[in-house]
Amino acid sequence: MHVPLNHWYPVLEPREVVRKPLTVERFGERLVFWRDSSGSLTAQRDRCPHLGASLGAGQVIDDTIVCPFHGFRFGDDGQCRHAPALGRAGRIPKGLAVQTFPVREAHDLIWLWWGDSSRATAELPFFAQLAEGWRHYTVRTEWPVHYTRAIENQLDVAHLPFVHRTTIGAGGRSLVEGPYVEADELGIRVWVTNQVDDGRTLRSQAELGAAAQGRPPSLDLRFPGCWLLEISPTFKNFLAFVPVNDHCTRYYLRSYFRFGPNWLAKPLGWLMSLSNRLILNQDRRVVVTQTPAASSDAQGDQLIAADRAVAQFRRFHATLLNRA
Ligand code: FES
Ligand SMILES: [Fe+2]
Repeated sequence: MHVPLNHWYPVLEPREVVRKPLTVERFGERLVFWRDSSGSLTAQRDRCPHLGASLGAGQVIDDTIVCPFHGFRFGDDGQCRHAPALGRAGRIPKGLAVQTFPVREAHDLIWLWWGDSSRATAELPFFAQLAEGWRHYTVRTEWPVHYTRAIENQLDVAHLPFVHRTTIGAGGRSLVEGPYVEADELGIRVWVTNQVDDGRTLRSQAELGAAAQGRPPSLDLRFPGCWLLEISPTFKNFLAFVPVNDHCTRYYLRSYFRFGPNWLAKPLGWLMSLSNRLILNQDRRVVVTQTPAASSDAQGDQLIAADRAVAQFRRFHATLLNRA
């Protein structure tokens, strides 16, 4: 699968990897995640370098992952530590190793560096403002869509009065002023001002830009796949888009909040998850119908001024895709 290389991608939540090795598909490849006796996490290609069996079907013993086929053991660096058929005294062939990926656990997500391991950076593409002091509740789901369509859907500011007419799009604010957009290779920031169409003339980008000064963006996308919706200073929605394969994207949708007493946190989180699920399902119904699957192949799409954020996403995504 073709995705921008040399980025940290959120790929799972830490709680999803427990004692047993976990095989998942990411970037169109089968990967295995496992923890050693101290809980430390390893991510490897789920293919034994001996004869290609799935390591995920094996077990973790003595801090190695053991292939179920011929019992070869591999460490957290990927090196084969033991090949039973060669005997304890036998020499393990050089280069008998399973591909291992840099992996981190932070912000209640598992991050995997996809690309050249030696280029893994210290910084994660997360939002500094969410680092501490928040509660969050997650909705996990998978859609049969390409991640580009999934991301663009959340940068699209013209669909709300139609797709979300009964929820967040109520009120018929169909007129999109701008949006005002700032974009660079780190991401895209969008200031949304939707209005009821009372015949007014739209404000210019310069006017919208001036009005955006000092205000946090309504939507903030960090490449390759983290998104933040500003609802209020104490309430935000976060989305991690995880490319599974060309026809599937996994979502981690979270409400982050810091209001209300402790005892109310759980019911509030539950209510937010319920409404997030409802809103996301409204999007899903339409996004699954888009063709072609990947927006990068959609040269025929005719974007309008209201699609400025989507246009910027396509531009920068293409740059990142073509960069090795
Ligand atoms: S295929 Fe894994 S040990 Fe043989
Ligand atoms: Fe939507």
